[in-house]
Amino acid sequence: MITYNENAGQFQLDTKSSSYVMQVREGFLLHLYWGEKLDTGDHSYMRWEQGRAAFSPRLENCEGFILDDLPLEYPCFGRGDLRSPALEVINPDGSNICDLRYASHTITEGKPVLPGLPAFYTEDGDSVQTLVITLRDEISKIECELYYTVYDAYGIIARRAVIRNAGENTRFIKAAASACVDFDNMDFDIISNYGTHARERMTERFPMNHGKFELASRRGASGHVHNPFMIMTSHNADEDHGDVYGVLLVYSGSHSISAEGTQFNAARMLAGINPDGFSWKLESGEEFSTPEAVLCHTNEGITKLSHMFHAAINDRLIRGKYKNSRRPVLLNSWEACYFSFDESRLLKIGKCAADLGIELLVIDDGWFGKRDSDNCSLGDWVIDRRKLPNGLDKIYNLLKENDCTLGIWFEPEMVSPDSDLYRAHPDWCLHIENRPRSEGRHQLMLNLSRPEVCDYLYDSIAAVLKTGMIAYVKWDFNRNMAEVGSEALPYDRQGEVSHRYYIGLYSLLERLVTDFPDVLFESCSGGGGRFDAGMLYYMPQTWTSDNSDAIERLKIQYGTSLVYPMSAMSAHVSASPNHQTAHVTDFETRFTVAFTGSFGYELDPTSLSDEDKEMVVKTSELYKKYGHVMVTGDYYRLRNNYEEDCAAWCTVSPDKSVCVAGYVNTHVRMYDRNERLKLKGIDKNAVYRDVLNGNTYSGAQLSGFGLPVHITLEYRSAMWILEKI
Ligand code: GLA
Repeated sequence: MITYNENAGQFQLDTKSSSYVMQVREGFLLHLYWGEKLDTGDHSYMRWEQGRAAFSPRLENCEGFILDDLPLEYPCFGRGDLRSPALEVINPDGSNICDLRYASHTITEGKPVLPGLPAFYTEDGDSVQTLVITLRDEISKIECELYYTVYDAYGIIARRAVIRNAGENTRFIKAAASACVDFDNMDFDIISNYGTHARERMTERFPMNHGKFELASRRGASGHVHNPFMIMTSHNADEDHGDVYGVLLVYSGSHSISAEGTQFNAARMLAGINPDGFSWKLESGEEFSTPEAVLCHTNEGITKLSHMFHAAINDRLIRGKYKNSRRPVLLNSWEACYFSFDESRLLKIGKCAADLGIELLVIDDGWFGKRDSDNCSLGDWVIDRRKLPNGLDKIYNLLKENDCTLGIWFEPEMVSPDSDLYRAHPDWCLHIENRPRSEGRHQLMLNLSRPEVCDYLYDSIAAVLKTGMIAYVKWDFNRNMAEVGSEALPYDRQGEVSHRYYIGLYSLLERLVTDFPDVLFESCSGGGGRFDAGMLYYMPQTWTSDNSDAIERLKIQYGTSLVYPMSAMSAHVSASPNHQTAHVTDFETRFTVAFTGSFGYELDPTSLSDEDKEMVVKTSELYKKYGHVMVTGDYYRLRNNYEEDCAAWCTVSPDKSVCVAGYVNTHVRMYDRNERLKLKGIDKNAVYRDVLNGNTYSGAQLSGFGLPVHITLEYRSAMWILEKI
């Protein structure tokens, strides 16, 4: 609920568990509070001026009012706030000053559409309201609309800013954050993520310091290195207790999320498009909307924050046929054969996979152009008849006869220099005239800010999907941006290319998911290099990492689970020894780890032992039966592999009737203590039976004493599927 207290000039945004309060003083929109839910009332007591100038300039005509010491909702560069700005605008005279003051506001039911960009949506019956506060610079006539959509039930607030040039002359936006929060203290720990290819979303926690900490991407993608979310907690917060604040950007391009500890021991959090290399020209009358950022707070610990994000993403970001339903058990050909396949090999793999209960065979890279390695053919989305003389028909028909479906890999946003597409359109890639074009994995990036490029991609992909044979698409993206330029835009719009690229990509995806609603799309970027809320709006799942090793995945999945739901996280059983790490793990361990996400296999089933084939049959059945729990259940991190020599978790169905728990031992210690695993989220008054071995346990026992863990060997695991009886 949103309330406006006219006397106090105060806005109060309440979800079922949190409040967010702002107030207009001397025309400035101040941030007063974000945290545990408050009573509705006048909260002016929250802000008293201390007159802390400390060399910061005072505003004229405003004795004692020091901008640098104010908690500001949308701070601008150029006047007396000397911290990092949310907004920086270049004026026609070259100055970069902007001075936004409150002008008006509206409160409406529901949520206005964010045209062209991914965003959380609403459904009929949702208790959702939107506050739009208009700020204005009376001199430059720059206007800024701040949007706050309050999702009562999910406990989230979706924010964005629209910058409008209401003046007569052209201006340039240099920086425009989606959200800013000025906390009145900096007594926080930051939970951040970092990583690289095949080691994404590693988790770090550290106390906030003075100065600025930034999770950033300048890669033209959300990237493997810093995922676009950040969590701030009270120092004493843990999984089950304490104040926790999360911010998640609904964007797939270059981002910046920062936390700045100030001279007055306050904190500023900023989230939005990365200003480095960005600029946006605003002609008179034009406007620009930032991507959406989603804020979430709880005083019940980190697990609760994860559950809130998971529910909101599952219910109000992910769309389409596979929303909140288990995904088909798939087998992906990549680690089974890489580029070395032909029709006969795929027929054998497909028949074997179908016989083992697999529901979807995905032909990964290598089916098009003349692509026998990664050095050619991206852009030429035409079946390679050397490998598949009958096109997809023969393999599709065989799968269909065996109750299995067909999926296929594309990497649409790229072009190989050795491709018919590049030979025909060398200007269709991102590049800067007269400079060399840097290749990554022998490829260039198409310039999706050009509509004709998006049209070409739509037609190429639609031609394959229109055959009606394709049930699934893996959408890959295997390099990041450099030399970001476009001949199609004038010199003073080159700073727009990277964001316009995403506007182009999102519109292409929207067309495809609308026209092919039955196709399951999975996004991928060398694994989890674009695992973000922007892509999840179009594609309900993402290939979590190119590292398919069960042991390495423990940390990757832990970090992913902080914000993203398990349904979004693809996890496959791959071969042992693992192709990336050479770790040797048994089938049970690989299954235990992969069973937490959208499940499948990444191996050649024809090469498996009879024993492992039986395991595929058994585990496929288990996923078909319990996969819905992994999608809709609450996921609890029970052991932290960053701190302990084990990892453990459990997922509990919403009605608490099923609990799937897993434990992996990552390091053996001699003569160690008895190990037991206390479960969370279960019904303490119920009795549960483990369907895997028939053992029964009381709920009180499971959460009090826990499950006895009889594992003494390294990389071995235990799994329990507990059903209420
Ligand atoms: C990327 C993906 C892999 C696979 C290869 C194919 O690395 O993450 O899963 O699809 O491309 O080239």
